[in-house]
Amino acid sequence: MQPIRGFRDLLQNDFKTFSEIKTICETIAKLYGYEGIELPIVESLDVFKRTLGDVSDVVNKEMFTLTDRHGEILALRPEATASVVRALISNKLTQDLPQKFFYQGPMFRYERPQKGRYRQFYQFGIEAFGEKDPYIDAEIILLAHRILEDLGVKGFKFEINTIGDVASRKAYNDALIKYLTPQKNELSQDSQERLLRNPLRILDSKDMQDQKILMNAPKFEGYLNEESKAFFESVCGYLDAFDVTYHVNSRLVRGLDYYTHTVFEFTHEDLGAQSAFLAGGRYDGLVSTMGGPDIPGIGFAMGIDRVMFLSEVGDVNAPVIVIPFSDDCLAYAMDVCETLRDNGVMCEVSFKGKLSKDLKYAEKRQAEYALLIGENEVEASTVTLKFLGSDEGNQTKSVGEILDFLAL
Ligand code: HAM
Repeated sequence: MQPIRGFRDLLQNDFKTFSEIKTICETIAKLYGYEGIELPIVESLDVFKRTLGDVSDVVNKEMFTLTDRHGEILALRPEATASVVRALISNKLTQDLPQKFFYQGPMFRYERPQKGRYRQFYQFGIEAFGEKDPYIDAEIILLAHRILEDLGVKGFKFEINTIGDVASRKAYNDALIKYLTPQKNELSQDSQERLLRNPLRILDSKDMQDQKILMNAPKFEGYLNEESKAFFESVCGYLDAFDVTYHVNSRLVRGLDYYTHTVFEFTHEDLGAQSAFLAGGRYDGLVSTMGGPDIPGIGFAMGIDRVMFLSEVGDVNAPVIVIPFSDDCLAYAMDVCETLRDNGVMCEVSFKGKLSKDLKYAEKRQAEYALLIGENEVEASTVTLKFLGSDEGNQTKSVGEILDFLAL
């Protein structure tokens, strides 16, 4: 039995890293005033179709869809921003702004699996609604940096760009089509298709020939209206004030359709081809596209699977292993364990009937200490502390003394 392609189990050390990353992200999001939201994994296909873009790769090629018994087409969520907007509208929160949410959980995209790219992957994300001012763009970028610092992620690159408001974006889109159409046949197959469906995405192409053609392509800057320019300057001004290092990449456009103004991506070269591990931006038109009022929004999502390759977290304390020597000592050993747990000490009983086997198990669990319990210990209400990582001799102690010792 094997999991299906692109799906995997997370266990042992991976699980520890995974859950600690989630805890750290959540703690920091709360520091900034974000509240948790748990969303359904399945939504009506419409939630994603128009919002992410009918012609985006995510909708066009990568959706996991299913039809329910009444013929409604459902989708496993490929991302959560559209779901959060759906929740904002269906829970009637649009009159009670601002609203700031964090979420985490599995997302599904039918992509070709490779290192750091899975068909079921996990995101931690935040979304803020109702803030028009560029300070919030800068603040969520600070939030992302704080998360990365606490996760011990170093050596990343942070790129930012503006794609302006809807009018600027449309003007640039038209200019790009005008420039590329006469050279259509020289573009890669992928870019030829994108020229019809989603020309901005051609800017992302890694193909050498495409890159050459793009060198003389019109630049976004030339098509931004004054308002969009001023907005971006303000975001960058805040980042300067907080000493955030950033690279303005005028080719950064993102693969989802809902963005306006600020877009950004964090990348790391150790990740290889799938180098983006945290990405997001502003999406001022999304709530109204989905039938709500005209409310600005901004957020990001971090790919937990990718951050697991970069983060230093995950080493939780090893348990104390409590070893009873016989059946008669088992109840007392369990009682000692419960007392340790009452005091927050992680511990396990190991009762394999042979000390060497119990010690082997303790080694596997990377335990530093074992507590040995024979009849003498039961009688005297003590335990014998054995140091597993050093030559120090055994010591007999009361449970209270053990707690003091472990607290040091
Ligand atoms: P996204 O760029 O599509 O944005 O995904 C965000 C992150 O999810 C990526 O940078 C990557 O780390 C991770 N990711 C995406 N696909 C995969 C995959 N197949 N396997 C592993 N990791 C993957 C969004 O999803 C937007 N909703 C972000 C956002 C939130 N924008 C505004 N608010």
